[in-house]
Amino acid sequence: MFDVDKVRADFPILKRKIHGHDLVYLDSGATSQKPESVIKAMDDYYRNTNANIHRGVYELSVESTRLVDEARKKVADFIGARTEEVIFTRNASESLNLVMYSWGRDNIKKEDAVLISKLEHHSNLVPWQELCRETGAELRIIDVDGEGKLVMRTQELKNSRTQDEVLTENGLKVRLGGFEGLIADGKVKLFAVTGASNVLGTIPDLAGMLTAIKRKAQNATVVVDASQMVPHMKVDVKTLGADFIAFSGHKMLGPTGTGVLWGKKEVLSKMRPFLFGGDMIGEVIITGATWADLPSRFEAGTPDIAGIIGLGAAVDYLEGLGMDNVRHHEKDLMVYALKKMVELQDEELVTVYGPKDVEERGGALAFNVIGVHPHDAAQILDNFGIAVRSGQHCAAPLVTGFGVPAMVRATFYVYNTKKEIDYLVDKIREIPKIFT
Ligand code: ALA
Repeated sequence: MFDVDKVRADFPILKRKIHGHDLVYLDSGATSQKPESVIKAMDDYYRNTNANIHRGVYELSVESTRLVDEARKKVADFIGARTEEVIFTRNASESLNLVMYSWGRDNIKKEDAVLISKLEHHSNLVPWQELCRETGAELRIIDVDGEGKLVMRTQELKNSRTQDEVLTENGLKVRLGGFEGLIADGKVKLFAVTGASNVLGTIPDLAGMLTAIKRKAQNATVVVDASQMVPHMKVDVKTLGADFIAFSGHKMLGPTGTGVLWGKKEVLSKMRPFLFGGDMIGEVIITGATWADLPSRFEAGTPDIAGIIGLGAAVDYLEGLGMDNVRHHEKDLMVYALKKMVELQDEELVTVYGPKDVEERGGALAFNVIGVHPHDAAQILDNFGIAVRSGQHCAAPLVTGFGVPAMVRATFYVYNTKKEIDYLVDKIREIPKIFT
């Protein structure tokens, strides 16, 4: 049974006052808060174990190595993976860059196409722009409709455009259109797509798209940016249909500086290292080196040991809650929040973005207060103790595609409540009054 009051008691920061008000933290999409167990695991590590891994035969180093191995096993079990397929990185951006540098540069050729979507965070957009610019491959982008859902056929777009839009700049060729048209010629060699939008919450129909893409381009490699997915719903890489998934530890109750790349063993084993140096080598002679087995090959240098141990504790915490309960709680909050926000929209106070059906969205709620700049709105909400993000949310093409320079975004997680949503809505009502 999911008990939000009990959950809240585990997060020390929620006792903080901000400008004299109880903290209402609605920015877990940017980074989540940390439960006592995660803080304690890291604190214990530094107090009692601190030593480098894989480098010492003495007790502390052996313990340290064991704790990192245990954390890797926890993360692997959490996503249904094999331990050697879990690569620790600093964050999802680094995980995606690893795929771009190590897999992309060896596998993408001029005649290929890389398919992404307009929903992507810059982390899953800019690396592919750069790869396509370097290789001459075409970057294809699935457009979004007015609700922020991926467009399946270009003809469905409710603007004047009935054909794919083609843009060329600095040697990069971009084709923007509907999914089906973009995969029709079988040239897509890489499909990199978000599992859930960090701005609009949109959850694309991954299963449907992955089945279609494997039919048209059998050898297409699939990368899922799971940064807003793994923290919020059950993910099993055995059934997902992806070759790689990337996510960050700090968005799933773990510490900053931790990220994960999961890759299929058969794919990872054929890849060159991304970073070179300590711990990633097999043998080194003065004229060269061989590479370590997975996962060490992709983990050069001393990792964030305490962070990884903290991430293991975060996984324990989420497992304790149950990921189905986590998803259910967030859906419940979103149904409630959307209803309230639609009321505000009917009063012409706000514009709400993103899919209307909660089955098709995660816990991100983007909106604007009509006539008020998003930064002003966020600043006013902060005065009431409410932390929301404003801006382009590292997804500029998506946000500006809605004809606005920026949006306010509230993101929900395990510790948020309906009472907090009521408070948010009350304070949104006050914003326009401040300007009159
Ligand atoms: N990717 C993070 C966000 O969406 C930083 O806010």
